[in-house]
Amino acid sequence: MNIEHNKHLLAYNTFGIDTIAEEFVQINLESELMELLHYANKNQTALHIIGGGSNILFVHDIKGLVLLNQLKGMQIVYEDKDIVHVKCMSGEVWHECVLWSVAKNYGGIENLSLIPGTIGAAPIQNIGAYGVELKDVFVELEAIHLRTLEKKIFTHQECAFAYRDSIFKTKEKGNYFILSVTMALSKQPICKTTYGTIQQEMNEMKVDAVSIKSVSDAVIRIRRSKLPNPAEIGNAGSFFKNPEITLVQFEQLKNTYEDLPSYDTVNGKKIPAAWLIEMCGWKGYRENDFGVHHKQALVLVNYQHAKGSDILLLSEKIISSVQEKFSIQLEREVNIW
Ligand code: EPU
Repeated sequence: MNIEHNKHLLAYNTFGIDTIAEEFVQINLESELMELLHYANKNQTALHIIGGGSNILFVHDIKGLVLLNQLKGMQIVYEDKDIVHVKCMSGEVWHECVLWSVAKNYGGIENLSLIPGTIGAAPIQNIGAYGVELKDVFVELEAIHLRTLEKKIFTHQECAFAYRDSIFKTKEKGNYFILSVTMALSKQPICKTTYGTIQQEMNEMKVDAVSIKSVSDAVIRIRRSKLPNPAEIGNAGSFFKNPEITLVQFEQLKNTYEDLPSYDTVNGKKIPAAWLIEMCGWKGYRENDFGVHHKQALVLVNYQHAKGSDILLLSEKIISSVQEKFSIQLEREVNIW
């Protein structure tokens, strides 16, 4: 067990914010994790888990022990003529698993290409893009309770998935270390190309026969054209969730804003937060080293040496201005540490 002290976390978050963790350790094996959890429980150390660090904004130094999840491995655990169940260890990089499924022509996660982060983080916020969410392919996950050290299988239902939400963000927040996630992928894939500009992108790519690979390629091209690459400009993808409003509220707003974009939901309408933020004049805003991306208003960026607290303050100003103009409360999607 190699515990490092006063470790700089600059290299471990896509926002590119530097902060210091009191203790830091890399977990390569489940046995190492068990050993560490015993140690942490004995010393009553606070525990924090990092995967790809792509959905975190550091605003303070971190007291306690940061665990960097590097548990690797993938295995087909069930197969018939129509589907495969693939069990992926939680430290695997999400996009690598997508590329593997695309190469095998197993369908289900191609629309989720290029989402940053790890397998273990995917169910926590039920990652989603271009008409697909993790919950659509999720079978089960295995996790270990950080304090009782009990292992548990969480079924689909037990995860309580919702839009960018699961039990691991609510009732069980901070209680478990996710060890592996099992997904069901299709051997007879049906490509989902109706969402957003996927079809248009494929036309531009001159694709004649739609395949898992062409959908993945189209999504990658769209994401690269719209979203800043964290390797170049620090960011954590969408900083806010798209808010849901009632039909009554929607009709009222539509009277004033004829071109208000929306998506139908079970209870009302979802409005793109990016549109609300842009309408408040924030798109492309820059102050010193932080700001709002010029191509996607939902993404807050660190141009180089911004502090986490600057970005947090900017997000508060954005929330206030959207509240003032539209009476809609934006919620952060990114975790604040
Ligand atoms: N729009 C604007 N201004 C902008 C950007 C977008 O007005 O600067 C409006 C346009 O009307 C556009 C609509 O917002 O048609 C939707 O934009 P986009 O397709 O880019 O998607 P989004 O709703 O802004 C969500 C996810 C993304 C995901 C895309 C595609 C959330 C919080 N974000 O963004 O997820 O990639 O859909 O499915 O739901 C992420 O979670 O990090 C992420 C990037």
